[in-house]
Amino acid sequence: MADRTPLVAGNWKMNTTPAEGVALATALAAELPGGQDGVEIVVCPPFTHLEGVAAALEGHPVAVMAQTIHDQAKGAHTGEVSAAMVLGTGATGTIIGHSERRAAGETDEMVAARVRAALDAGLFVILCCGESLEQREAGETEAWVKGQVAAALGVVTRDETDRLAIAYEPIWAIGTGKTATPEMAQETCAQVRAAAAGFIDADAVRVLYGGSVNADNAAQLMGQPDIDGALVGGASLDAAGFATIVRAAA
Ligand code: PGA
Repeated sequence: MADRTPLVAGNWKMNTTPAEGVALATALAAELPGGQDGVEIVVCPPFTHLEGVAAALEGHPVAVMAQTIHDQAKGAHTGEVSAAMVLGTGATGTIIGHSERRAAGETDEMVAARVRAALDAGLFVILCCGESLEQREAGETEAWVKGQVAAALGVVTRDETDRLAIAYEPIWAIGTGKTATPEMAQETCAQVRAAAAGFIDADAVRVLYGGSVNADNAAQLMGQPDIDGALVGGASLDAAGFATIVRAAA
């Protein structure tokens, strides 16, 4: 089995002002001076904070990534932000296909185009997938997430494996306080990994779990064989709590 470096990413979503974001990043750097041995740490602030947060974290091993990008390089796309623009802030990657964006109309085709655009620009990608409660209860989870993974990874080549991670986030667990059990999360993360095998080096790719991860449940979730880290929403807005989750990944 490949030796996969755990990755813990904080998705700040639409929270904090730019000044609060810089303060949060600074507090996180103080919690984890020198980072955390053997763990890759990422924060994903809103676009407006990327430059300030990247500057605040310069020289510190916490990477800064965006929450999405547009697939076009430039042009008449009011309100959108390109991969090159994100890269120019000092950020080094982006989340793509978060369920909150899919719920707002982002299709599998758009996700694939954005994954390709991000990789082409030199950004790391955290690709998200996950099922609704109705899909889980109907026994459709595996087929659904495999479809999402296949649609997005169809545009990726095997030699790009180390330039992306996949986050499995059951929609019913996001922001609800209802975490998937470690067994359930493990089962679906293994299915996600299996789905990736047709496209990239599935043994090497990091598969993260996301959905109400907190300082109390992180160690058990990330202790599962196919869970290589976490995508953390709410709990990433507290520097000390997020630092605890990072340490749990080590
Ligand atoms: P949560 O969000 O940790 O607040 O559930 C996770 C996510 O949506 O990435």
